[in-house]
Amino acid sequence: MLSYRHSYHAGNFADVLKHSVLIHILEHLKKKQKPFCYVDTHAGAGSYSLQSEQAEKTQEYLQGIARLWQVDNLPAVLATYVSVIKAFNAQNKLTRYPGSPMIARQLMRQQDRMFLFELHNKEIEILREVVNKDKRVQIAHEDGFKRSVAIMPPQQRRGLVLIDPSYEIKSDYDQVFEAIMQLYKRFATGTIALWYPVVERQRINELEQKITASSLQNVLLFELAQLNDTQQLGMTASGMIVVNPPWTLQAEMQLALPMLAEQLGIGKQGSYRIKQLKDE
Ligand SMILES: C[S@@+](CC[C@H](N)C(=O)[O-])C[C@H]1O[C@@H](n2cnc3c(N)ncnc32)[C@H](O)[C@@H]1O
Repeated sequence: MLSYRHSYHAGNFADVLKHSVLIHILEHLKKKQKPFCYVDTHAGAGSYSLQSEQAEKTQEYLQGIARLWQVDNLPAVLATYVSVIKAFNAQNKLTRYPGSPMIARQLMRQQDRMFLFELHNKEIEILREVVNKDKRVQIAHEDGFKRSVAIMPPQQRRGLVLIDPSYEIKSDYDQVFEAIMQLYKRFATGTIALWYPVVERQRINELEQKITASSLQNVLLFELAQLNDTQQLGMTASGMIVVNPPWTLQAEMQLALPMLAEQLGIGKQGSYRIKQLKDE
């Protein structure tokens, strides 16, 4: 049974990285009039109150989005990210944090389409309420790993698949690689963005090795650490691995990540990595 609820973590440092990258990719897709398709394999609830019991308990957003809320002169990718999150909050007061589906829905146009998959009984219920009947959006209470592959290639032949599991099941670390390979096989020109947590560094080393040895092309990795790696339990860093990234992404993240490491790092332990896992 699934127990992960994103409401405990919404707006934390991992969401800042994930959603900044997500927004940049979607904005890039919008540069052409042609429609795109956005697929969210692990959609979550779509929107989160930062005053809920769960958010109050962990207060993770205070070390994430809250640290950027009042900062001037942010690098472009972060300025856009903060402005998107501000659109969900009245009077410049940070009380809500949108999940990836609502961020994408805010950015998509009439001609674009979205597929959302979510397995948790309660989260899908909230997601359906939050999205509230939008003809551009299809929501399914199904396994996003399997169903995202089944709908490839999308009719639009351009777009993004976000793979964002909770990794509460350890097999997720293997499944994300399998999912990328299957998606790529059917939609080799599409952008695929995978989020990963660094809880045990060895698991990420293995994932990187598998990608490097694979037939994928044009793969970048962006990682942001709040703390140094540790053997103890807990997430210290997280990253995004992007297959077929927009050509602008690396330069934008090169400007944003040093600042994120400084602003969101704890006790001067903030750091970042950018790595080309596969050449174009
Ligand atoms: C990290 S959260 C998603 C957060 C969301 N993508 C965002 O950025 O706002 C992961 C979600 O995946 C759901 N989940 C777990 N396994 C799944 C599967 N095989 N297919 C679809 N959803 C799944 C969990 O219930 C959880 O809500």
